[in-house]
Amino acid sequence: MDLTSEEQGMLDGKFGNAVRKSMEILVALGNIYGAKRLIDVSSVQIAGVSYDNLGEAGLDYLSELAKDGKTRVLTTLNPAGMDLVDWKKLGIPEDFAKKQLAVIDAFKKMGVVTSCTCTPYFIGNLPHYGDHVAWSESSAVCFANSVLGARTNREGGPSAIASALTGKTAEYGMHLDENRQAQVIVKVRAKLKTIPDFGALGYATGKKIGNKIPLFVGVKRASVEELKSLCASIATYGGTAQFHIKGITPDRTHKPSEEIIVTQNDLDDAKTALTDEGYDEPDIIALGCPHCSINEVRKIAELLDGKKVKEGKEFWICIARPIKEIAEQAGYVKTIEAAGAKFACDTCMVVAPIKGRFKCLATDSAKSCFYARGKNAFKTKFGTAEECVDAAVTGEWKLKQAKKKEAKKEEAKSKAVETEAAEPAESTESAEK
Ligand code: F3S
Repeated sequence: MDLTSEEQGMLDGKFGNAVRKSMEILVALGNIYGAKRLIDVSSVQIAGVSYDNLGEAGLDYLSELAKDGKTRVLTTLNPAGMDLVDWKKLGIPEDFAKKQLAVIDAFKKMGVVTSCTCTPYFIGNLPHYGDHVAWSESSAVCFANSVLGARTNREGGPSAIASALTGKTAEYGMHLDENRQAQVIVKVRAKLKTIPDFGALGYATGKKIGNKIPLFVGVKRASVEELKSLCASIATYGGTAQFHIKGITPDRTHKPSEEIIVTQNDLDDAKTALTDEGYDEPDIIALGCPHCSINEVRKIAELLDGKKVKEGKEFWICIARPIKEIAEQAGYVKTIEAAGAKFACDTCMVVAPIKGRFKCLATDSAKSCFYARGKNAFKTKFGTAEECVDAAVTGEWKLKQAKKKEAKKEEAKSKAVETEAAEPAESTESAEK
């Protein structure tokens, strides 16, 4: 790879140990992937922040970098393993909290903005169309490439930190035009009305095409929140770092020759697959994967207004702290907390160490179903925010309610049959009399 004299100086250690280590990572990646040069990035998003994932070795690595490393561009953090302020409220053990705060301190020392969120674009890390960035967190990467038209590979934690401390990344993969073209047309023949509909679309498409870049055709509209849900889901179940939607996303693409169809049945099957049988009384209800927008919080406040979360149930709203502050000003926090739901700022239902505390998660996020099952061994219920709020308030998932209604109907029917059967006997008797 060709390096400028400044980049060579970084590699030679003229800018300190952290920069040298970072440059070694970037040059190694560039050589592996055949990059010709390094390019400037305008922002960085670092994942792998939870002490649950990092462990002691990760904390040591960060502490070492923090001795002389300083960020050169805007750098934000993914969710940590706990709410950094109200961690006790979420039942986080004290020894874990101490370690997690040490991780955050190391990042702070390096100049990282420690608002821990997987939706950095809602709190000001918002790259412009065409910007090169170095982001980790698969849902945010997919959002940056697809929705914003910025350019990033799916970075790992260490390579993202390396970019933060040097302001550089190697030019390969998603930074190049030729790797951003659609590889398969996905004709959507299904109704897309809700956030879980888009999550189900990501699930069904990801399962069919793996990590190919799709061009969706037939999607008439999509809100930012629905796109965020699609990004999280398709990146989880397929692995792509980008999609195109005709008429909605900004990048231009060639038209590929391969074509598949996603039908209403595919979406229904996806929803069924994401909802486990049994466990009809979810004990944790969580919204905000990826972290909620202010508009989602507004809706949750409306749904919870005047209601109470059933005793024994936990209801988490996963969110960036600055978004909670806006929600506070708008009065949404008061309404939501009065109902007994809790804000989980800086963290989420997946990265928090809650394995073993709950049995079944109700959520509107296809992505969190995957990790709740795989990481935390929870059963999952997948539905709209309305259905999740309903489960939190009644204590029962809609299927149990539907089964109950069905049972009542059956009971009423058989009573009616018994009465009918009894009536002719009476009339025979009275006729005899
Ligand atoms: Fe974000 Fe946690 Fe989901 S990091 S994308 S809320 S799994």
